[in-house]
Amino acid sequence: MKKYSLLFIHAVLHCWTVGLVVSRASEKQVWPVPYQRLDRRPDVDSFCQALYPFCPTGDPDGRIPVMGDGDVISVFRLQTPVWEFKYGDILGKFHVMHDAIGFGSAKAGRNFTMEWYELFQLGNCTFPHEREGESAPFWCNQGAACFYDGIDDLHWKQNGTLEKIGEISGEMFNELALWVQKDNETGVYYETWTVKSDPGANATTWFESYDCSQFVHRTYKKLLELGAQLVSQTPTNYTKIYLYSGEPLYLGDDSIFQQSSKKDLAADITKFYHWFRSHQSVVDMIMSLFEAFEKMVLEKTFYFYYNSEYWKLPMKYPYLQITYEEIPFP
Ligand SMILES: *[C@@H]1O[C@H](CO)[C@@H](O)[C@H](O)[C@H]1NC(C)=O
Ligand SMILES: *[C@@H]1O[C@H](CO)[C@@H](O)[C@H](O)[C@H]1NC(C)=O
Ligand SMILES: *[C@@H]1O[C@H](CO)[C@@H](O)[C@H](O)[C@H]1NC(C)=O
Ligand SMILES: *[C@@H]1O[C@H](CO)[C@@H](O)[C@H](O)[C@H]1NC(C)=O
Ligand SMILES: *[C@@H]1O[C@H](CO)[C@@H](O)[C@H](O)[C@H]1NC(C)=O
Ligand SMILES: *[C@@H]1O[C@H](CO)[C@@H](O)[C@H](O)[C@H]1NC(C)=O
Repeated sequence: MKKYSLLFIHAVLHCWTVGLVVSRASEKQVWPVPYQRLDRRPDVDSFCQALYPFCPTGDPDGRIPVMGDGDVISVFRLQTPVWEFKYGDILGKFHVMHDAIGFGSAKAGRNFTMEWYELFQLGNCTFPHEREGESAPFWCNQGAACFYDGIDDLHWKQNGTLEKIGEISGEMFNELALWVQKDNETGVYYETWTVKSDPGANATTWFESYDCSQFVHRTYKKLLELGAQLVSQTPTNYTKIYLYSGEPLYLGDDSIFQQSSKKDLAADITKFYHWFRSHQSVVDMIMSLFEAFEKMVLEKTFYFYYNSEYWKLPMKYPYLQITYEEIPFP
């Protein structure tokens, strides 16, 4: 009798949790889950300390110089292998590339580089920290736009791309600058992964990444809206880091780690990320990706963090892929 009532309670609880999931799902989940915009960029917790300063040569307040109305501004497509202090350009061999945009003013005779990247490097944007006295994983995952004087031709040209793809007016540039500052203030969290149902052409995208190349695509889109024409003579390939899974299951935000009813789930998430904590280097992180791969094959679960909330991904073959694929201008 006792056993049955326990089973019954278990069944009710189970239905109740499933019911919760369903009721959220019945709000008609939109895929891919829209990336959340904030009103303003929150301050970074002092726990997050950059090994390399972010945007060292940019204006500290993110100001972008105003161009003259009659000016002609060249637009450059910039790409180079992600460079790692310890391992050099080895990541170029895997086609893990970094993307940026260059501008050159004919009137002022000056040029500029604009890129969007992690404040605390890729590892910190991909995996969280375990922090003393805090039950929830702790993320140092902000990314931001950096605009600075000069284009280092050699850096981009030698093992990457430096290609002029168009010209815009000074007015267009100034409008673009306002848009960049707003984009920078409202889109603040880096996301490494793109999550899809499968590698095929008709796959459903569950989550879109938010990284340097997405910034470049958004900027191109804005430039086209402003009336620019962009043309490339070479293939425009970009690095994408994919996870493949069935339909993701919503789990909740940091409150998971405060509710005793979610103790097991909290422990599971903590255990999952324990494998991948505190990375200093991109190569260590790539190594972790392969560990993650093993774990995904075995357990077919990935706890995914997006918009400061957790999702459970029922992982599917081929689980994880790094591709360098062509994405045309919007
Ligand atoms: C990643 O974050 C930790 C914690 O703040 C920090 O100690 C480390 O320097 C960061 N790594 C890099 C490469 O910035
Ligand atoms: C973007 O935000 C970061 C972080 O606050 C800041 O350092 C940077 O100057 C801003 N960039 C632009 C172009 O506004
Ligand atoms: C940017 O300006 C520097 C200094 O004038 C020059 O050496 C370089 O070739 C320029 N790069 C581009 C892509 O215009
Ligand atoms: C380009 O690659 C070569 C060979 O891997 C390397 O020696 C060189 O430093 C790289 N150049 C730049 C600018 O990264
Ligand atoms: C994708 O969907 C279209 C239209 O439903 C179909 O014609 C095509 O064969 C599908 N392609 C793949 C790779 O499944
Ligand atoms: C660029 O992307 C295309 C199509 O996605 C692919 O066929 C090609 O191999 C890629 N180029 C490189 C250098 O990987």
